[in-house]
Parts: sequence; structure tokens; C-alpha cells
Amino acid sequence: MKEIAARHSIRKYKAEAVNKDDINKILEAGILAPSAKNRQPWKFIVVEGDKKAEALDVMEKGLERSREELKEMPGMDALISDAFNTLSIMREAPVVIFVENSNGKIPFVDININDRITEICDSLSIGAAIQNMLLTATELGYGTLWIANTVYAYQELVQCLGISGQLICAVALGVPDETPDPRPRKSFDEVVEFR
Ligand SMILES: Cc1cc2nc3c(=O)[nH]c(=O)nc-3n(C[C@H](O)[C@H](O)[C@H](O)COP(=O)(O)O)c2cc1C
Repeated sequence: MKEIAARHSIRKYKAEAVNKDDINKILEAGILAPSAKNRQPWKFIVVEGDKKAEALDVMEKGLERSREELKEMPGMDALISDAFNTLSIMREAPVVIFVENSNGKIPFVDININDRITEICDSLSIGAAIQNMLLTATELGYGTLWIANTVYAYQELVQCLGISGQLICAVALGVPDETPDPRPRKSFDEVVEFR
């Protein structure tokens, strides 16, 4: 409960590197998560330094493509601006972990019901792995940001990272350079129903 309450999305990081043993502990925590049919559909691609800069330059090109392609869609401007903001946070964080669903496929095509159920279960399993990682990082004194804005640079990132499954998201990791106030939560009564 301590780490659950202490974890907040961190959007400012110190330049300090993250110790390799700590990165490994965080990844091990992810690997210990439950998964549907024990498929363990996750794959983690950890990038730092030049490799991180390379991936994020590619992400920037993807965001520019999405800004152009989706400009007529209502509300897209704000979403793409938010994705560029996320990109600048990723540039500041010393470590970025891209997370792949190794059973997944590109999310922009129709799939049959069975494949959809499998994909939902695999996404849930990966969510459990990520939360384990965020909590372990919190325990070790690091800050994290869970990032889905990678979706606006999907094709570019998949190609650059050599992902053959589905790119799910990224996690930024580093020593926090802010102590944000907790974001509001819906009240207990709003979200819980006892029957
Ligand atoms: C699946 C998922 C995707 C997210 N994607 C982003 C993102 O791309 N950029 C960002 O700044 N925050 C992102 N967040 C962080 C949320 O905005 C944040 O968790 C939420 O506002 C609650 O704040 P807290 O994490 O500090 O409790 C994401 C969170 C989740 C769970």
C-alpha cells in the first residue's frame, strides 16, 4: 500500500543514470506478474543514451506524420500536442522501456473475436506487469511515467525497434525532479457497488 499511495506520474527527471541492477529488479518485478493462460506476452526493450535518442527522433517523425494525417479530426490538435509533450518528457528521462505484446498484431486492422479476446487478455497481463514495475521503481526511489502516446508514432517505432508483435506502450524511468500532488480520484461510492 505504501508504494501504491506514493506512486505518481513523474514528468520531470534528473539527468542521473539509473543503476543497471535496479533496472533489472524493475524488469524482474514485471516478469513476476500474472498473465492470461500464463502466456507471459510481454517483451521489454530498454533504451538509454544514443539508442534512446535515436528511437525518440523516430517517434518525433511519427508524431509529425500523425499531426498531418489526423489534422481534420476534431480534438486531434490537443492530443498530438500532448504526445509532443510526452516526447519531451521521454527525452529528459534517462531510461525508456518500450513494451511489446509479443503475440499481438498491428492495432489498425480488424481482427476476429477470438483474436480480440486473446489480445484483451494479453493487454491486461501486460498492464499487470507494468504496474509491478512502477511500484518496484517507486520502492527503489525512482519516478516513472506510463506512456501510451507512442501510438501516434506506431509504425515508425515498430520499425525502428524491430518489433514483430504489437507495441503497447512505453515507461519512462529516472530519478524524479518533482514531487507532484496526487491526481484526483473518483470517490469510492462512485466506482464501487456492493450487491
Ligand atoms: C495506459 C496509460 C497511458 C498513459 N499515457 C500517458 C502519456 O502518454 N503521457 C502522459 O503524460 N501520461 C500518460 N499516462 C499517465 C496518466 O496521465 C496518469 O496515470 C493519470 O493522470 C493519473 O495520475 P498519477 O499516475 O499521477 O496517479 C498514462 C497512464 C496510463 C495508465
